[in-house]
Amino acid sequence: MAYLALARKYRPQRFADMIGQEHVTRTLENAIKSDRVHHAYLFCGVRGLGKTTAARILAKCLVCEHGPTPEPCNQCVHCVGINEGRSVDVIEIDGASNNSVDDIRSLRDQVHYLPQIARRKIYIIDEVHMLTQAAFNALLKTLEEPPPHVTFLFATTDPHKVLPTILSRVSRLDYRRVRAATLVPYLQFILEQEGFAVEPEGLYVIARCGDGSVRDSLTLLDKVIAFAHDPKAITGEEVLTVLGQASRYAVAELVQAILDRDAASVLQRFEQITSSGSDLMQLAVAILQHLRDLTVLSLTKSRAALLDMNDDLFEQLQRQAGATSPTVVAQHFDRFARVVDSIEHSRVPRLVIEMGLLELVSAEPLMPLGDLVTRLDALSKGRPTPRGGGGGGGGGRRGSGGGGGGRPRGPAPRQAAPAQAAPMRAGPPASAAPMPAPTPAPNPSPVVHRPPAQTQAPKRATAPAGGGGSGNASADMLERMAREAGLLGGKPEPAQARTPQRNAAPQRSAAAQRSAPPQSNAAPQRNAPPQYQDGPPPRDEPPWPVPAANDPRSPQGQGFALTNDRLRPVEPSSEVAKDPQAACPSSRCTPREPIQWRQLGSWDAWETFLSRVRQENDLLSAVLDNLGLLSLTEGHVELAAPANGFARTQLRENPEIEAAFEALAAAYFGENMHLELVDIVPSLPDAPSMLLVYKERQRKHREQIEHDAHSHPRIRALLHAFGGEVEKVDILAPPELPPLGERGLPS
Ligand SMILES: Nc1ncnc2c1ncn2[C@@H]1O[C@H](COP(=O)(O)OP(=O)(O)O)[C@@H](O)[C@H]1O
Ligand SMILES: [Mg+2]
Ligand SMILES: [Zn+2]
Repeated sequence: MAYLALARKYRPQRFADMIGQEHVTRTLENAIKSDRVHHAYLFCGVRGLGKTTAARILAKCLVCEHGPTPEPCNQCVHCVGINEGRSVDVIEIDGASNNSVDDIRSLRDQVHYLPQIARRKIYIIDEVHMLTQAAFNALLKTLEEPPPHVTFLFATTDPHKVLPTILSRVSRLDYRRVRAATLVPYLQFILEQEGFAVEPEGLYVIARCGDGSVRDSLTLLDKVIAFAHDPKAITGEEVLTVLGQASRYAVAELVQAILDRDAASVLQRFEQITSSGSDLMQLAVAILQHLRDLTVLSLTKSRAALLDMNDDLFEQLQRQAGATSPTVVAQHFDRFARVVDSIEHSRVPRLVIEMGLLELVSAEPLMPLGDLVTRLDALSKGRPTPRGGGGGGGGGRRGSGGGGGGRPRGPAPRQAAPAQAAPMRAGPPASAAPMPAPTPAPNPSPVVHRPPAQTQAPKRATAPAGGGGSGNASADMLERMAREAGLLGGKPEPAQARTPQRNAAPQRSAAAQRSAPPQSNAAPQRNAPPQYQDGPPPRDEPPWPVPAANDPRSPQGQGFALTNDRLRPVEPSSEVAKDPQAACPSSRCTPREPIQWRQLGSWDAWETFLSRVRQENDLLSAVLDNLGLLSLTEGHVELAAPANGFARTQLRENPEIEAAFEALAAAYFGENMHLELVDIVPSLPDAPSMLLVYKERQRKHREQIEHDAHSHPRIRALLHAFGGEVEKVDILAPPELPPLGERGLPS
């Protein structure tokens, strides 16, 4: 006799023979017992769960000579006729191939004839969702009021495609995927009947591959038997090989390597598994499955959901679960699920999986939002912050160095170059930002980031290809949340490129400056002083007194030519002189009030004078800001100006500048001042120029802010809570200076 596939040979003949669908079989049995059988049933569920089988059994129940009965005899002419598929009154229609309206019309016409030999006429329509819309409609009327001798049994794998009008006229029963725990004993039962044997491990592999479908599992079993050396003793290995499955141990080891963040081992194990013939997709799914099992075990601490696992495997899983946080595993799952999704569309699935695995190795654990909120909450209330928790588990390698549970360890291959490691900023761009009100101590804005691994540059992992951020994202979120919670002292900052601190020109000693070539300190714009980003400073307090374009050595200033406009000292117009405030609020228009310079120190008097000059003559201002003050006495100013320096050249070549100086000096000092230039490089503190003083003030200001940032209690608390460090302090406000005339030289 021809070989009969297991799935056909073992088609259940009674409800009692069916597995995993008790909710369906009992409903049907009860309906028969209580004579409340519906005139139309719809069986829904994926393939191979027993829909057709149950329909045939129900048909037998209804037409059996000894029925209607929930236990058909399978002996009578009707039962046998159905079993052999030649019953004239039980009509099986394949909805996929008989889906036209004509097919249904002819069915409808037949419906009214009485059954030929049985007590009922039963129509079994498989894949009923394949009927056309017209066919459905043709069926509606019949379905609503079928003749009393007719029963409809519909089956579909896709109930969503069945018209609602049909659905509302049938009794729907949903079939469930069969669990491995139910399936494996059934497979074993069949093997016993056949005189074969497969290792339980192998049976679980089959059940898992069958994905809950009984027919698929039986078909796979057929395949395994056909392949086996000895069908009476089929090993788990053989099953794995036939089905292209990776051993669960191998997968567990691979996942262990991921948790250990051991990239080399991950690649090696991956290579081993694939070279043994495992299907790539199956392997990827197996990895996902393992991550899922890990999460389940960590969270449930029970074996109930992991019945398809043998003791060895379960113990290994337990060890892994004990050493890893479920949050980390869940994040791995999430990331790798995306990889699995993308394999289908990839022409190089192997590479995609490999990279996906390496990404898991290098991924920084994200901090769960809940943890963040709890910590921030605790911080804001001044309570000690809860530490450790899920997210910081750091994958594997726990205890490899002790310390804070929140710190990720291990290598991070995917680092952005330092240049790309822009500070994280939220908020509007600088131009749109309001200028901060001057405060006694401007708020520093530390950028908190995770500490680097010993030999690594600071981690700046970019977002993984699959999305789902990483260190950056969490740090970003952290900072934003901290800011929102007021922990970082308020306002969101404008996004702004910062001038790194190391660019601040170091101050040379006076001696060093004197011996330096003349230009050496006269090129402020090359090493542009840090610009404060929050909008323009007040008109009388420019952040930096020298307009960049005025420096002949600045790139823009090359080929510098003075226009007459710039040279001409600005004279208050006669109208403004009469009522300066009325015409213009700017100080340019106010009358020139003499500086009470004799009551001020020399430098203060000079600085005050320079600030006035700045309002009136850009070029003169640029020249004077570069000169060092040597002395300021009655009718005499002595300035340090290197022989070939910018200032001297300008003064020599533009007599208008000297004239402008004389006019302004006379106005502000109340007498004619004689200007004497000495061939000395300006320096602090002996020959201070405005430029040098400004830089020095800025440096001190920065120092102070950095000190404040590191010692601010809230920032310290934040660093403590998150285990970070202050990488960089960006200053949001210019130095807070006393009013002009009270400044003195920076000490
Ligand atoms: N619940 C079940 N219990 C036992 N065997 C089943 C079950 N469901 C399916 N099978 C097996 O699968 C084969 C196909 O089942 P079938 O009823 O045609 O599935 P469906 O119609 O749901 O696609 C059956 O012959 C039987 O061997
Ligand atoms: Mg079927
Ligand atoms: Zn019978």
